[in-house]
Amino acid sequence: MAMLLNPLNRRHRLRDDIPVMPGAFPLVGHLPAIVCDLPRLLQRAERTLGSHFWLDFGPAGHLMTCVDLDAFAMLRSKDVSSALIEEIAPELLGGTLVAQDGAAHRQARDAIKAAFLPKGLTQAGIGALFARVIRARVQAWRDRGDVTILPETGDLMLKLIFSLMGIPAQDLPEWHRKYRQLLQLIVAPRVDLPGLPLQRGRAARDWIDARLRQFVRDARAHAARTGLINDMVSAFDRSGDALSDDVLVANIRLLLLGGHETTASTMAWMVIELARQPVLWDALVEEAQRVGSVPTRHTDLAQCPVAEALFRETLRMHPATTLLPRRALQELQLGQRRIPAGTHLCIPLLHFSTSALLHEAPDQFRLERWLQRTEPIRPVDMLQFGTGPHVCIGYHLVWLEMVQFCIALALAMQKTGVRPRLLSGVEKGQRYYPTAHPSMTIRVEFS
Ligand code: HEM
Repeated sequence: MAMLLNPLNRRHRLRDDIPVMPGAFPLVGHLPAIVCDLPRLLQRAERTLGSHFWLDFGPAGHLMTCVDLDAFAMLRSKDVSSALIEEIAPELLGGTLVAQDGAAHRQARDAIKAAFLPKGLTQAGIGALFARVIRARVQAWRDRGDVTILPETGDLMLKLIFSLMGIPAQDLPEWHRKYRQLLQLIVAPRVDLPGLPLQRGRAARDWIDARLRQFVRDARAHAARTGLINDMVSAFDRSGDALSDDVLVANIRLLLLGGHETTASTMAWMVIELARQPVLWDALVEEAQRVGSVPTRHTDLAQCPVAEALFRETLRMHPATTLLPRRALQELQLGQRRIPAGTHLCIPLLHFSTSALLHEAPDQFRLERWLQRTEPIRPVDMLQFGTGPHVCIGYHLVWLEMVQFCIALALAMQKTGVRPRLLSGVEKGQRYYPTAHPSMTIRVEFS
């Protein structure tokens, strides 16, 4: 299949002595290929141009993409800044901690990080809360017989993240729609006209923020209520340099977004892999029967190695966050090249996650990679969550909820002797950017 590149743009150019990938379109650059066909685009660029090349992200400009593993290590360096994230998606991520550096970043992160560690999650009873919601949902799937998987997992994840935050779960489909419009802000052309993605995205952001502002006001008014928003409000109110409500609202929006799209995609991929590989399903059912119930604490997760391996291997094959942007603050040595200060960088997590440098037979889905390993998990084994000061806050939560989901699914289905089967092809409709996900239309049957 031809790649979505501009056949009229074949000229080989250099910027700062580094090749620019040909095939960019006016205005949108390489975005069509980045969104729909990123793995092949990266492979072709590496094959034809080497380890360093420029990709054109349309409205976000050119990013120097480096497929050398040094680029991943760069995430731990003080010589790169996350402020570029805010420039790429000002309406979406402006003022959020993911786009900040140094002390400002630490202050905002410190206000929420404890709640997301195993101890905080256990104290808040999150595992038991999630187990209830997940069990009810997978039983409903079994009773219905078939589902369109991504909208279903999207809805379930939104419900979970709302319950975690202590937000009443009303109007979930509306929130879901607003988030999709919001994400379009990352790739929307900067054309400010009614009905176009830019204005729709801004309207969605205003809709979401107005509701979050109300939740913050409610949390202040009923301080006794539990939920992460309450903890965040008190932590933010306590912090020395009192942070404004705008910062609080922006960071709650970030948490909902981070905890929703990425996990919904991973969960949908897990079901798809279980449906297309019967041996995986059999191994999972065996484990679920042995364990007997959905785990609720991190200390129980060691009893579910198959479910954990499924989670890690699914995310390795289908990382939900494919690319991370950074700006070089100093001149950097990246692989064999020196990169000038000020360069905009793209760190392709997707490339490393599926790279032969890190994994034997990287294209094969192998639970044994995880089941047979003897050393502890290293940063490169969970590179899908980033590394360094911005490493994903939600990692422990995701690990718990994915294992819970696998076990709950297997227990519910084996009760009536059914298993997941694919009703549609998987190849078409996959997306890789701004977040990656399987096709919206894939249907799975339980029979
Ligand atoms: C499969 C699911 C997930 C994946 C693959 C994922 C991936 C990532 C990655 C790659 C980063 C690093 C961003 C960077 O360095 O610029 C990140 C940061 C972050 N994630 Fe996740 N994430 C997931 C789930 C979650 C969940 C469930 C939450 C919260 C409920 C969450 C909240 C955050 C936050 C707040 C940050 C910013 C941390 C910081 O900048 O200090 N994520 N995530």
